[in-house]
Amino acid sequence: MKMDIHRQSKHISYKGNNLFIEETSLLELGEKFQTPIYCYSIKQIRENFLELKNSFKKIKPIICYAVKANFNKKIIDVLSKIGAGMDVVSGEELKLSLECGVDRKKIVFSGVGKTEQEIKYAIKKNIKQLNVESEEELSEINLICLYLKKKINVSLRVNPDIDAGTLEKISTGRSEDKFGISKNKILKIFKKYKSNKNIKINGLSIHIGSQINKLDPFKKAFKKIKNMIENLKKEGFVCETLDLGGGVAIDYDDSKTLKISDYAALIEKIFSDLNIEIILEPGRYMVGSSGVLLSKVVRTKKGENKDFLIIDAGMNNLIRPSLYNAFHKIIPVKKSKKERKYDVVGPICETSDTFLKNMKIQEMKKDDYLVICSTGAYGSCMASNYNLRGLAKEIMIDGKKIFET
Ligand SMILES: Cc1ncc(COP(=O)(O)O)c(C=O)c1O
Repeated sequence: MKMDIHRQSKHISYKGNNLFIEETSLLELGEKFQTPIYCYSIKQIRENFLELKNSFKKIKPIICYAVKANFNKKIIDVLSKIGAGMDVVSGEELKLSLECGVDRKKIVFSGVGKTEQEIKYAIKKNIKQLNVESEEELSEINLICLYLKKKINVSLRVNPDIDAGTLEKISTGRSEDKFGISKNKILKIFKKYKSNKNIKINGLSIHIGSQINKLDPFKKAFKKIKNMIENLKKEGFVCETLDLGGGVAIDYDDSKTLKISDYAALIEKIFSDLNIEIILEPGRYMVGSSGVLLSKVVRTKKGENKDFLIIDAGMNNLIRPSLYNAFHKIIPVKKSKKERKYDVVGPICETSDTFLKNMKIQEMKKDDYLVICSTGAYGSCMASNYNLRGLAKEIMIDGKKIFET
């Protein structure tokens, strides 16, 4: 394990022995504000978006940032200003996106459990489309449209029965998962709603899981969906739009992840002859590498057979390690040469409040600062007040400018 930030976080780096986020010293941030603090590089977020956008040579997908990955207002604002749309999964995410001035015709609303209220709100706001996850949801949407005397575009989220080969709890495209509509039902639904005055089925969508680090599952899913579109066409149904979801992995542990240019090339190879509008919903890829969780050592503790490094960030701030056994690298804010093995743990009254086990990292002492890397996605947005602990502050860095949010 390299004692360095991972390679996708280009704007978080050591200058001499001190860790910086863009032009701002993390040591100074730690001393100025109360830790733990989520710190994000705006430059990194912009670059991630532009890298994805520019990887496409033939088609110009609508890139709808998956707000669930991090609903920080500044992030939504920054991304929408450079042309991103949003993929939202709740009425509140939709409201926030609209407040941030996101173009409503670039907002898609996904999710298996949209409430009547949320559906009504989305229809009234005239967003691009609802990504529908069941026949039951579709008939509710129909009734709501009748009641409101309004029309809405929907895409049918297909469950392609593909194992994304990612963590069990973030796989979404297998037939046993709760997401999407079985591919065997899609044609029937198109036929049923063919002449419906309130609902226009404009296409299909899929999302097979998150943190997918190989092209193969994408390839299998994309080929299946292409087949479905061609078969629908033979039956006289035109898919105008195809939402390919998110799921692209980031590098948490210096292992190889898929290249974004290969992902884009795959999409172009499979779909460019269809003349169809492509929508993407990246979340983690857009923001994951942009953020760190800055934390301070509360104290060290000698255990029976090991040493514990007790830090002031806990599983209430970052739940991924305890929820998914997810790995996040931990590096010091001030580098030194001495190394030591620790279990890095938080202060919460749960054994699962452990960030790293038996890991060789730099030797540290009380009041030293460290960062938990790659926490821009599914970090702050999954935080809680467990143990009545407060939420970590969030700070956005843009060069030398600091925005507290
Ligand atoms: C429907 C949908 N789209 C997009 C995403 C974003 O996924 P990721 O952050 O892996 O890109 C998710 C996340 O689970 C999702 O459920």
